Amino acid sequence: MWDRTSRLFGTALLLFSLLSVSNSFDTLEQTETLANGQTLVSLNSDFELGFFNRSTSTTKWYIGIWYTVSPEIVVWVANHDNPLNDSSSTLSISNGTLVLIDSLQNIIWSSSVNLSTPKILDPILKLLDSGNLILKDQNNDDILWQSFDYPSNTFLLGMKIGKDLTTGFEWYMSSWKSSDDPSKGNYYYKMNTIGQPEMVLWDGDRIKFKTGAWVGVRFSGLPEMQTYTNMLQFIVVSTSKEVNFSIEANKGVPLPLPLSRIVLYETGVIKCMVWGQDKKNWYEFWSWPNDMCDNYDKCGPFGGCERTTPLNCQEHSNGFKLVKR
Ligand SMILES: *[C@@H]1O[C@H](CO)[C@@H](O)[C@H](O)[C@H]1NC(C)=O
Ligand SMILES: *[C@@H]1O[C@H](CO)[C@@H](O)[C@H](O)[C@H]1NC(C)=O
Ligand SMILES: *[C@@H]1O[C@H](CO)[C@@H](O)[C@H](O)[C@H]1NC(C)=O
Ligand SMILES: *[C@@H]1O[C@H](CO)[C@@H](O)[C@H](O)[C@H]1NC(C)=O
Ligand SMILES: *[C@@H]1O[C@H](CO)[C@@H](O)[C@H](O)[C@H]1NC(C)=O
Repeated sequence: MWDRTSRLFGTALLLFSLLSVSNSFDTLEQTETLANGQTLVSLNSDFELGFFNRSTSTTKWYIGIWYTVSPEIVVWVANHDNPLNDSSSTLSISNGTLVLIDSLQNIIWSSSVNLSTPKILDPILKLLDSGNLILKDQNNDDILWQSFDYPSNTFLLGMKIGKDLTTGFEWYMSSWKSSDDPSKGNYYYKMNTIGQPEMVLWDGDRIKFKTGAWVGVRFSGLPEMQTYTNMLQFIVVSTSKEVNFSIEANKGVPLPLPLSRIVLYETGVIKCMVWGQDKKNWYEFWSWPNDMCDNYDKCGPFGGCERTTPLNCQEHSNGFKLVKR
């Protein structure tokens, strides 16, 4: 009798530890762990956080956030360059940081500590409707850390690209190595803060593409941006403290907006993809660089370029002259 009870008790304990994610599915508390196979789901059910793998040959596991309707589209990755070799790792909160611990209790990845944020006694992890994963104080709105500060290859509404001019911290996108390898690839999309704010696509340490200066509602080199101003507002803020780019839905636009993402692909191309609920498919809205003129320096340092096919670099008596688009 005693034996049976203790075995039942043991089973209950085991079950309890397996089901250690609380009944609030968007939140992980300090005492809980997220194991491989378990996920957090945002309240609106748009986003899911959990373990995923990509390669079929070798077992490499990552912590990431993906769309619930389209799990193959991963919008954020925690351990880009430190894949887990086994599936018995867990994600939990330790000492005010988020830690990914493998079966040998090694810390494989942890969220960075922001020294200018006050120490929080009772942190919880929450996956917001926007797709932002935040480590916050249970009792107020103090944020210790957020995934939106560390974009992967995907820009979502609510993120920013820019630079904190006081600390030098940069918010930027970086490509994956390949479509099934989330480790950091060659391309970066960053804000240039010297002179007029402008966005720059880097291929390693080489400039591949510049958007042209900000002209109030869009970047000068991207007339395509004008097409979406009925729905979305593009915002560049430049102060002595911070320069940043963000996107907001216009007032009056019916919400929720369709799921949309801007992705920096491993080929160095940036695309805006929008989810079509009817066909359950992603549609390409636009793509940059969209012609060869957009590739910086194609016609030499002072080169002119016309949007003709094939690439036409105009030579002038004084060398090359830039043809404005
Ligand atoms: C990758 O994950 C899937 C489930 O998401 C699993 O069925 C498969 O075995 C995993 N692949 C490897 C190589 O572990
Ligand atoms: C995974 O295995 C590789 C090769 O054995 C090793 O270099 C790497 O450090 C391991 N990673 C982890 C997180 O254990
Ligand atoms: C918690 O963090 C503090 C400061 O970052 C550090 O001094 C302390 O050793 C940490 N404690 C544990 C248990 O990791
Ligand atoms: C750190 O915290 C400060 C104050 O809360 C905030 O302004 C800043 O953006 C944070 N930096 C990062 C990199 O999270
Ligand atoms: C951009 O920077 C300004 C000025 O510091 C700040 O007020 C604003 O919140 C930032 N935008 C975003 C999206 O964080």
